[in-house]
Amino acid sequence: MNAKIVVLPGDGIGPEVTAQAVRVLQVVARKGGHSFTFTERLMGGCSIDAHGVALTDEVLADCRASDAVLLGAVGGPKWDDPTAKVRPEQGLLGLRKGLGVFANLRPVRVHPALVESSPVKADRLAGVDILVIRELTGGLYFGQPKGRATRDGVEHAFDTLDYADFEIRRVVELAFRLAKARKRKKVTSVDKANVLESSRLWRQIATATGKANPDVALDHLLVDTASMRLVTSPASLDVIVTENMFGDILTDEASVLAGSMGMLPSASIGEKGPGLYEPIHGSAPDIAGKGIANPVGTILSAALLLRHSLGLEAEAASVERAVDQAITDGCRTGDLGGKLGTKAMADEIVRRLEAGK
Ligand code: IPM
Ligand code: MG
Repeated sequence: MNAKIVVLPGDGIGPEVTAQAVRVLQVVARKGGHSFTFTERLMGGCSIDAHGVALTDEVLADCRASDAVLLGAVGGPKWDDPTAKVRPEQGLLGLRKGLGVFANLRPVRVHPALVESSPVKADRLAGVDILVIRELTGGLYFGQPKGRATRDGVEHAFDTLDYADFEIRRVVELAFRLAKARKRKKVTSVDKANVLESSRLWRQIATATGKANPDVALDHLLVDTASMRLVTSPASLDVIVTENMFGDILTDEASVLAGSMGMLPSASIGEKGPGLYEPIHGSAPDIAGKGIANPVGTILSAALLLRHSLGLEAEAASVERAVDQAITDGCRTGDLGGKLGTKAMADEIVRRLEAGK
């Protein structure tokens, strides 16, 4: 098949990890007789430096016209002034909104060989296989109004958590669809319905969707309880669906189960159009340019791209197997206590991918 892929390396370690994921995709293309074209564009701090904005209309248009977008990471100390009008993160949020990718899929698995890399006790990690679905284009990140005001000489800052019913329904329905294809067929809807009105609507819609899908078990957890369960009994969780910022926080926490933030991929998808694929980690400015970042989160994001945007399930699985095999064989970057650099780790994965079926 032919596919147009826009690559947004971004800032910090972004260019280092996306370069390795592109290599992996090139191997997949060659092995499977596919033709992938890669177009690199600026987004994030690098775009602010070049164009004064984090995401230009041209780049968004290129992304919209593609089959899929592969992203590294954005941000860094250079653009971190809290009073700045333009920030790298605006590019990422604008891209998510502009592509209409309302569901962010963050699978969390624990490779048996990495159990000791997690600070969570090994007996809690057996059988962990969670899919967190984070609502991505609404909620606290996007609600209006947000801003600053001075009232009676007192400075205020405010954000709004606003959801339209259809925004909740479409992501919750997706959670049920994806749960049906899994072994345990269970959805945990995470909210703060004891305090927030938006969460009460969320719970109401989740409950109604549960009634319409009796073959899937539904339960509700308050987000504070959910954050505890993630480390006390992670194996009890299957599919989690939750508000944008709750999902942001819970998936950083969940990455601890997998041994390192550097391991976790994500896929952001909408009703139609290209999906957006990015590791869940940030731009890690402290290690940027050193060639030591873990490329696995981005390589696994490329696997999700093959699966969700290109429909190449066998190819996606072959990349995941190559990663698993490399980890089983003891290949480790520094974040997992190993000595391999970014490229050397990808070499190990590529070698297994070449050799695999
Ligand atoms: C993530 C990141 C982003 C987010 C930042 C960089 C804006 O933390 O993808 O999880 O909060 O969504
Ligand atoms: Mg985050």
